[in-house]
Amino acid sequence: MTNNNMYFIANWKMFGNLKSINSIKNVINLSTKLKYRKAKIIYCPPYTLLDQFVKKTIKTKIDIGAQDCHTHQNYGAFTGSINAKMIKNAGSKFIIIGHSENRNTGDTNKIINLKIKSSLNEKLKIIFCIGETLKEKRNKKTNQVINKQIKKGLKDIKKIDNIIFAYEPVWSIGTGIIPELDDLRNQVKKIKFFIKKTYKVKNPLVLYGGSVNPKNILSLREISLINGFLIGVASQNSKKFIDIIKKTIN
Ligand code: PGA
Repeated sequence: MTNNNMYFIANWKMFGNLKSINSIKNVINLSTKLKYRKAKIIYCPPYTLLDQFVKKTIKTKIDIGAQDCHTHQNYGAFTGSINAKMIKNAGSKFIIIGHSENRNTGDTNKIINLKIKSSLNEKLKIIFCIGETLKEKRNKKTNQVINKQIKKGLKDIKKIDNIIFAYEPVWSIGTGIIPELDDLRNQVKKIKFFIKKTYKVKNPLVLYGGSVNPKNILSLREISLINGFLIGVASQNSKKFIDIIKKTIN
């Protein structure tokens, strides 16, 4: 469908154990095939499995990312927390920040900005989630909300080369509902336009996330503006994840 790289980011959320890592074997095999070279596969397991995932994917083309981090740049007395430095040290190259499940439990745009800055300082690549709630959509606030999330989340950040945007309408995450294709195409177009204009970049990467599955990927892949997908529940099942990758690249 496209000559460019396509991102397939597996967000395992609070799922997975030492046994489930073995299930990614088939995804590793797929990534070695010439045909799927364009697929940039990134696994974001829970913190407890980062080390094992890094070891399992070493010498493969698959990269590993974390799902969040603490705002604090340095080590400190923050019981139960993990910062970007530790994530980098564990071998991660990527990090998801601003996921709506974390915005929901207290991550403001300001907190997200601090997390992004500390991750950039550690040279992590950011998967920056943005998206409106159903209420905001109904009140026709989508653009306003998204532009604010971008501006505030990236406050004082000049270079955005290491930032990949993931448009995830909150009402789409885990619900089985995806936006109307025309609406999604338009929204991604608007997001790209805003980023280009604000940050003077030519080709910002914008992914789509929210209920991506092997069925709806056949429609989603038709939107050529989309640079890949952030996949939750379907990514925990290697068969489904592979199916999504194959159908997109074919
Ligand atoms: P979902 O999750 O694919 O299960 O809807 C996507 C996400 O939360 O990133």
